[in-house]
Amino acid sequence: MVEALKRMEYRGYDSVGIATSKAGKILTRKGVGKVAEVNSVLHLDEMSGEIGIGHTRWATHGAVTSGNAHPHTSCKSDIGVVHNGLIENYQELKDELSKNGHAFKSETDSEVIAHLLEHNMSINNNDIKGAMVNTCNRLKGSFAFVAIFDNSTLCGARFDEPLIVGIGKGKDEFFVSSDVLGFLMHTDQAVFLDNRDIILLEGNGLSIVDFDGKDVSRPVTQVAWELADSDKGNYAYFTLKEIHKQVQTIFRSMQQKQKSMESFCNILKSAKDVYVTGSGTSYHSALLAKHILSKYSRIRTEAIMSSEFQYSTESLDENSVIIAISQSGETADVLKSVQAAREKGAKVLSIVNVTTSSLARLSDCFLEVNCGPEIGVAATKSFTSQLAVLYFITDSISGNSGGITTNSTELSDAIQQTLELEPIVAEIAKETKSARDIYIVGRSIHFPICLEGALKIKELAYIHAEGIAAGELKHGPLALIDKNSVVIILNPNDSTYTDTVSNAHVIKSRGAILIGISDKSKDDDKLYDHFINIPSVREQLLPLIEIIPLQILAYYLALSNNIDPDYPRNLAKSVTVN
Ligand code: F6R
Repeated sequence: MVEALKRMEYRGYDSVGIATSKAGKILTRKGVGKVAEVNSVLHLDEMSGEIGIGHTRWATHGAVTSGNAHPHTSCKSDIGVVHNGLIENYQELKDELSKNGHAFKSETDSEVIAHLLEHNMSINNNDIKGAMVNTCNRLKGSFAFVAIFDNSTLCGARFDEPLIVGIGKGKDEFFVSSDVLGFLMHTDQAVFLDNRDIILLEGNGLSIVDFDGKDVSRPVTQVAWELADSDKGNYAYFTLKEIHKQVQTIFRSMQQKQKSMESFCNILKSAKDVYVTGSGTSYHSALLAKHILSKYSRIRTEAIMSSEFQYSTESLDENSVIIAISQSGETADVLKSVQAAREKGAKVLSIVNVTTSSLARLSDCFLEVNCGPEIGVAATKSFTSQLAVLYFITDSISGNSGGITTNSTELSDAIQQTLELEPIVAEIAKETKSARDIYIVGRSIHFPICLEGALKIKELAYIHAEGIAAGELKHGPLALIDKNSVVIILNPNDSTYTDTVSNAHVIKSRGAILIGISDKSKDDDKLYDHFINIPSVREQLLPLIEIIPLQILAYYLALSNNIDPDYPRNLAKSVTVN
């Protein structure tokens, strides 16, 4: 379980805990910190029992304390619970249960589940299945929870949060996890639970019922991903490994199943209006999608960030199409957008990395990002792979008139050469590590890359960074520029070159430290204090190349400031809360 929790740590890593059931007793140990840190103090890996549950937390309700860490236990400590999601009516339930004599030990919403189960058992002759059904029907919000009972029964339930059962090789061996990575080292046979499913693992194996208590059956799926992909290999951090893997992953993403591609494009072509949505990095992919779909496929789209989508659904109808982009396929804001679009009758297309995710299941048709598990919390390889899929769609629709995905040798050579710029970028990071503000400036298809580069610097290095559309500088942001500002200019040798180089001169004359990223070699290196000379590729492919030095810069800015780039503070990989 400790090994499994280490693999799941990317989902949350502020505290950790384990509970086991052994000889009629539930034993719990939990503490603040990462799995390895807590384990070295509490020796979680020396706990014993017939069954157990574990959790790594990303705090929502209640501070980061060992008391708020999961598992939470009932008053008699005969039930232990771990929970992902948000129980919206927890206060109401807590008040009700407190009146019935339940004493709460934490500030979390999750603890109510343990007490509610205890209450429902006590009024129903200790019937575990009945207690699970009644408990699930009282909870509002989103949840995937797993409970263990002192008689060595394990139960779980899912509503708007992922929960997967791994079928072990031994007769009585089962695993339950919110991600297949939790058990992939033991089995690749998985049952993906649906919303409103409850599982019961008792002496006679696995049974599944719905929230009405009726039996349901779910198919067993073989999970394809290689476990090797979730190891750091020879790299110091997952983030660095994933940046380097882009030389392969981008091409994997361009290999799409013909049938899925055809249905995806047919739905897209028949749409009256098209919306592209995503959160964070995936929203930046959506912004680039807007450019390339319009330019090369003549499909006009609107890009809306998923957290805002629900507020602008008025003009959607059954002739609309929403393309949802998501690495995890579990981001709550994205799922909410898709549900809002569905309610208006719109068709749902998605581009997802986790093909067994909720988003993939909610879609009329989806395409695989296919970049393998991304463990580093900051999205890197999934971003370039999402772009690769978008280029592929664009080419398919335009009958390859954009020629974006042809000549892969040109692209792979360029990516390799860009990765080899790492020492130059690492040096720039050392010299700029104390920057107060970093601005990234560019135009047209480079603007989404400015936003994405700034996001990487914020989340990995905790430095204020902002992407600015070059033409907007004069409308306000120029007031921010002084000799303490570090400004990165995306100034490739394309149709944006002349205008952007003028912006660079204006910024330079305000005394800022300038870093140029361009494929136009030496002419400009006097203008720039630091210069990153990327290889030349066709104009439309430049975003795939330009983002790489920015990812590397963010990574080295983190290291130079003694920050663990794989686990930025306050963030989680899958943001399954609104
Ligand atoms: C940034 C980052 C986040 C995610 C966002 C959406 O590096 O990782 O901004 O991009 O939370 O996640 P997915 O793509 O899983 O929907």
